[in-house]
Amino acid sequence: MNTTYLITGGTGYLGSALIRHARARGIPVVATFHSQTPPAQPGVIWQPLDLRDPAAVTALITTVRPAAIIHTAFRQYEPDLMAITGEGPGYIATAAAQTGARLIHMSSDVIFDGEKTGAYTEADPPNPITDYGRAKARAEALVQAIYPAAAIVRTSLIYGFDPLDRHSAFALAVARGERTEKLFYDELRCPVFVDDLAAALLDLAQSDYRGVINLAGAETLSRYEWGRLLAQAYGLDPDRIAGAFSAESPTPRPRNCALDISRALALGYRLRGAREVLRAVGRLP
Ligand SMILES: NC(=O)c1ccc[n+]([C@@H]2O[C@H](COP(=O)([O-])OP(=O)(O)OC[C@H]3O[C@@H](n4cnc5c(N)ncnc54)[C@H](OP(=O)(O)O)[C@@H]3O)[C@@H](O)[C@H]2O)c1
Repeated sequence: MNTTYLITGGTGYLGSALIRHARARGIPVVATFHSQTPPAQPGVIWQPLDLRDPAAVTALITTVRPAAIIHTAFRQYEPDLMAITGEGPGYIATAAAQTGARLIHMSSDVIFDGEKTGAYTEADPPNPITDYGRAKARAEALVQAIYPAAAIVRTSLIYGFDPLDRHSAFALAVARGERTEKLFYDELRCPVFVDDLAAALLDLAQSDYRGVINLAGAETLSRYEWGRLLAQAYGLDPDRIAGAFSAESPTPRPRNCALDISRALALGYRLRGAREVLRAVGRLP
């Protein structure tokens, strides 16, 4: 039996971590890249992929015939946002269903309007207010309709330290005075440590869980609080982080994107809160 995992977006932040974790578990990996030159890694076969090309998606999956697919590849902005992020996952789901591959599809907390009081559960339906959110919501609907056995993972800000993720790099640049943006007091997220998420995704791939599952960090923080915490963790002055309310943003942004992870915790997934992780990696006392 083929034990290979296909990781789309292998050159991305989450994809790279997934490759590391899969290789540490001895799982053979086929990973995809789009515009970047992928790094040579033992046990990893790289394949180019353009999600706008349905025939290429089908050819890749029917040739590799992976045991599981973890679909992380996406685009957050135009051009071709809907084609890549919204429609592409439909092609992945169709080929996964045809070949019987286990499918884990990455979704996001920005599929919500952010107006709920309290954290969003798996039962909450998408109601996006941004173009990116609409594309991710379209992807969820396609994956669910085409391949109901797939798992759809809603997650939050993905962070890590080696290498540093782009959100943390941005907050630290603000704390160093290299950028002047303000961080929002009222935009709530559940930052998730990339290693916790990667491990949970590989465990999920080995399960038969169907449908939506929230996999995010156990602590809800505003962007402002998260920026201050990171500044502290990197020995910078948290008071250099300037805050604002998201109403000041020129474009609409969902405010409360907190995800309820009680189901994932009950299933045994390890999803630590940000302070717990910062202490564990020695960045907070
Ligand atoms: N990062 C977060 O905080 C966050 C939060 C919530 C949800 N998510 C979800 O988690 C997933 C991974 O996010 P990430 O931040 O790790 O992604 P990322 O670092 O931005 O990587 C995106 C990946 O998609 C590939 N890609 C771009 N355009 C493509 C195309 N047309 N065809 C095929 N592949 C293409 C890129 O390839 P090249 O680099 O080679 O061009 C790259 O490997 C996404 O589905 C995202 O929606 C992320």
